[in-house]
Amino acid sequence: METKILPVTDESVALAKEILLGGGLVAFPTETVYGLGADGTNGDAVKKIYEAKGRPTDNPLIAHVHPDFDIGKLVYVENDYALRLKEAFMPGPLTMVFYSRGVVCKEAVCGGDTLAVRIPRHAGAQKLLRAAKIPVVAPSANVSKHVSPVTAQHVFDDLAGKIPLILDGGKSDGGIESTVLDVTEKVPRILRAGLITREMIAAVAGDCEIASHLPGDKIRSPGVKYRHYMPRCKTARFCAEDTARAAALYDRAAEEGKKPVILCESGAKVRFAGREIIDLGGSGEEIASNLFAALREGERRADLIIAIEPAGRGGVYDGVMNRLCKAAEKYEEGGFSH
Ligand code: TXA
Ligand code: MG
Repeated sequence: METKILPVTDESVALAKEILLGGGLVAFPTETVYGLGADGTNGDAVKKIYEAKGRPTDNPLIAHVHPDFDIGKLVYVENDYALRLKEAFMPGPLTMVFYSRGVVCKEAVCGGDTLAVRIPRHAGAQKLLRAAKIPVVAPSANVSKHVSPVTAQHVFDDLAGKIPLILDGGKSDGGIESTVLDVTEKVPRILRAGLITREMIAAVAGDCEIASHLPGDKIRSPGVKYRHYMPRCKTARFCAEDTARAAALYDRAAEEGKKPVILCESGAKVRFAGREIIDLGGSGEEIASNLFAALREGERRADLIIAIEPAGRGGVYDGVMNRLCKAAEKYEEGGFSH
């Protein structure tokens, strides 16, 4: 199958709509990462997403709708705080999990009774959703376990030949996926950290819990139990204070003829002078925005990525650390461990 990359225009969106309504797949930009969309009411179309990505079939999908779409048609909105959160953060990088009305097919929710709903802010995504008028279910448009895509080229690198169309809306500037929030209980609970932080949610909803995902916990977001975001080369993670050991690993690898590269926040660069560096940026938002593109650039340029954790904690750093810890194994003396 030929895979076209087209800028988002009236013509390309009309083509994308035709493909979606015909049961096919279309990759499209959002402000977090690129999504791989299918008609959420068509079980056969949704199965193609799992095949194209190699995604485990017990990991449900997010339904994406236009701001004008009445989400009450898809889910039961039972808690007032969820309405306030919708008012505050949608459209935007927040996904809320409600009890489903069953309009979105069982293949997309893996037979579960809940549905995750998101209203993207990206103009390209909205143009597609406005035209399609259906819930478009979409995971990130990468091969399962690989780094999420933030450009049309990243999607092409993973899925060329497997899907007919990628709508190109430029680089996704949010850079990490939406916050996934369970709103079925009296207190909202973060299932996956993201750009809408616990602090932001608590300020609107009054309170906000974070799912622990400990052994024995009832896992409400199956995605969290899988490995994710893995570059195609060895990737070592060091904490912010551990720069001497990180530099030593770099130097040893370089001596052995390997091509290492350091990924670190701007403030840590001075500690790696004279070495290849990919700069993640200064603030938590910048680091989130650059992280996936940096990991993909790292795997392209090097055969060993040495990722230095940013020093900041809380807020958007929760989402950054969650991605980084899955992408990169912690490097202990003598080898890798998690
Ligand atoms: O920013 C994003 O959320 C991107 C863009 C494309 O919208 N999408 C995305 O999808 O990251 P995906 O499939 O890569 O991650 C969705 C996460 C998974 O961890 C999944 O388990 C969880 O959301 N999820 C989906 N439906 C759920 C449900 N009904 N209950 C609990 N968790 C759910
Ligand atoms: Mg994903």
